[in-house]
Amino acid sequence: MKFNYSKHVPNTDNDATGAILAAAADPKVISLAGGLPAAELFPVEDFRASANRVFDEHGAQALQYGGAAGLPALREEIIRNFLKPRQVEGAVENIAVTTGSEQAIEQIAKMFINDGDTVLVEAPTYLCTVDAFKSFGAKIVTVAMDDDGMKMDALEEALKAHPEAKLIYTIPTFQNPTGRTMPVERREQFVKLADKYGVPVLEDDPYGAIRYSGKAVPPLKHFDKTGNVIYMSSFSKILAPGFRLGFVVADEGFIKTFTIMKQIADLHSDNFSQYLVADYLAHNDVDAHIAKISKLYQHRFELMQSLIESEFPAGVKHSNPEGGMFIWCQIPGDIDTQALFDACIKQGVAFVPGDPFYAGESESGTMRLNFSNVDDDTIREGMKRLGAAITKFLNK
Ligand SMILES: Cc1ncc(COP(=O)(O)O)c(C=O)c1O
Repeated sequence: MKFNYSKHVPNTDNDATGAILAAAADPKVISLAGGLPAAELFPVEDFRASANRVFDEHGAQALQYGGAAGLPALREEIIRNFLKPRQVEGAVENIAVTTGSEQAIEQIAKMFINDGDTVLVEAPTYLCTVDAFKSFGAKIVTVAMDDDGMKMDALEEALKAHPEAKLIYTIPTFQNPTGRTMPVERREQFVKLADKYGVPVLEDDPYGAIRYSGKAVPPLKHFDKTGNVIYMSSFSKILAPGFRLGFVVADEGFIKTFTIMKQIADLHSDNFSQYLVADYLAHNDVDAHIAKISKLYQHRFELMQSLIESEFPAGVKHSNPEGGMFIWCQIPGDIDTQALFDACIKQGVAFVPGDPFYAGESESGTMRLNFSNVDDDTIREGMKRLGAAITKFLNK
């Protein structure tokens, strides 16, 4: 049956990313392509205790419908555990709980974008966001980055050329895919520039808590004095993605509208998950848990980084993330990364080619490597295979 879908449905005959992930899922292939957190650190026993307490203390209420903005107890815990330590101001009325930050991205796209509207994004950036923006007809304008994130001269140029832009989307901390982090001074500049041109900022921060070196930097939202920054974060990388819980922090008026739209989409996020996470946060030291995650990721990052030095051909550049889950590599020369990907699959190892992360023209020879969900032996073997495959490819 051939259905007549709306214009929001993308062309699914051309799912390059799906094809990459399918090739990487072959059990004979070591995948450094994924973006999954380390499941061995999911606090299963603590959640078992939370589940018992939730049933003892709340019974059927935890299985009932809930409010669209989210469980008030969870929103209080978000303030105590995440906003105050990150120097972000906000009351319960400034927070909406979402079904992962993915829902926030899609819904904000729906709220802001009409056909042909301009949105500014980093080059490269998280590709699902670009897909969400495009599904509402956005014209995507990319802004160049350097090792410190989005470049402010490039942003100002883009804002001058597109003062009508509806949003600026950014992942300023341990960015997906590059692992890059924007320093404090640039954050202040960013918020001022967005204010000057009156374009709202959508700040996506799922990785910011997972820092294993360097000094913490506050989110852009900390510098926001006008309510122009919409901040999003998620429990996916610090507790477990299966709960599908994230949150948005913004102006009270925005949260009211957002909540009405969310009600249309799904009435509310999973109520039982919200009770569980609220209970977990009230009874456990989440900072100690995040410190454990950061320690393991630091070890895996350092191992992968040392293997880039020893196994990859000379001249391969890579990012040096101080947190998060990804390293971004660039192989010098004019490289067809898709052909390189195919060659690596033949050697039994996968990465994500950089091209799909670029909404505009891509930079040659880029690739994303993930280290969060692979043990030491797998990293060693995977990087050996990858190094050999790249060397062979370059010497062809
Ligand atoms: C930058 C970024 N934003 C948002 C998401 C969505 O995460 P979730 O919906 O699990 O919160 C991801 C997932 O990997 C991501 O990398």
